[in-house]
Amino acid sequence: MRRLEGKSMIVTGAAQGIGEGIVRRLADEGASVVVADLNGTKAEEVASSLRAEGRQAIAVAVDVAEREQVQTMIAAAVTSFGKLDVMFNNAGFNKPVGFLDADEHNFNSIMRVNGLAVFIGIQEAAKQMITQGHGGKIINTASIAGRQGYPEFAPYCASKAAVISLTQAGARELGKHNITVNCFAPGVVRTPLWVGLEQDMIAKGVIKQMGEFMESFSAGILLGRVSDPSDLTGMTTFLASPDSDYMTGQCLVCDGGMVLI
Ligand SMILES: NC(=O)c1ccc[n+]([C@@H]2O[C@H](COP(=O)([O-])OP(=O)(O)OC[C@H]3O[C@@H](n4cnc5c(N)ncnc54)[C@H](O)[C@@H]3O)[C@@H](O)[C@H]2O)c1
Repeated sequence: MRRLEGKSMIVTGAAQGIGEGIVRRLADEGASVVVADLNGTKAEEVASSLRAEGRQAIAVAVDVAEREQVQTMIAAAVTSFGKLDVMFNNAGFNKPVGFLDADEHNFNSIMRVNGLAVFIGIQEAAKQMITQGHGGKIINTASIAGRQGYPEFAPYCASKAAVISLTQAGARELGKHNITVNCFAPGVVRTPLWVGLEQDMIAKGVIKQMGEFMESFSAGILLGRVSDPSDLTGMTTFLASPDSDYMTGQCLVCDGGMVLI
């Protein structure tokens, strides 16, 4: 028997990048998964490719910052798989703007998805798990940018520090229901998010060609390379599995040795 057999799990932002890596590995380990994303078409592509491999998967189109849509997503998991055991609040984005130029729109739009939506996701998953009465696991995607501030994307750093704080607050509230809340902090991960960052940096004249920003940002990684989503999925599967049952309120850093705090 695979170790996540019989478990029902949602991963948001799962149509590509880190979320897709997480959800594919969970499904490989036997979990029934909801592939949730703003981009419903791409989410369905991931879910149908998993079904073609014999996995249990559905897709849900969702804006994670809209509470009613999050409730509908959770209801879809319960309708399809009978319950919700694990919720990954992974969806997020970045829009780098220089420290002195970042405005209210930049700050609020990033906080809405990376901060508020994680709060809503924790709350709504917890309500479902409390109703079920047998605990659960909530796992949020933070970042090394939640541990260290970078002036090129200050609002993103603030939003990821918020993820760590919400994880701790949620863990303190929900422990009595046997619901654990943890987060993980990737470093530099080769995903479509970075394509957008490089394009933004070229438009601002900060760099001249694609790849330059990632290269300069990653220069201090002790293991000498940036990561791929597959570098994270051992850790995320651990967090979703019974092996992590006695951990809560924690932030696991997986960055190849970049931020040593
Ligand atoms: N790539 C990195 O280097 C890196 C490093 C640290 C943390 N992270 C974090 O990891 C998570 C995933 O990042 P990624 O690199 O895979 O990014 P990505 O852009 O490749 O994928 C993010 C996915 O989230 C979805 N999404 C965005 N806003 C949404 C919303 N409002 N509702 C639902 N879905 C939404 C997008 O459609 C996309 O499919 C994010 O929280 C990001 O901040 C990424």
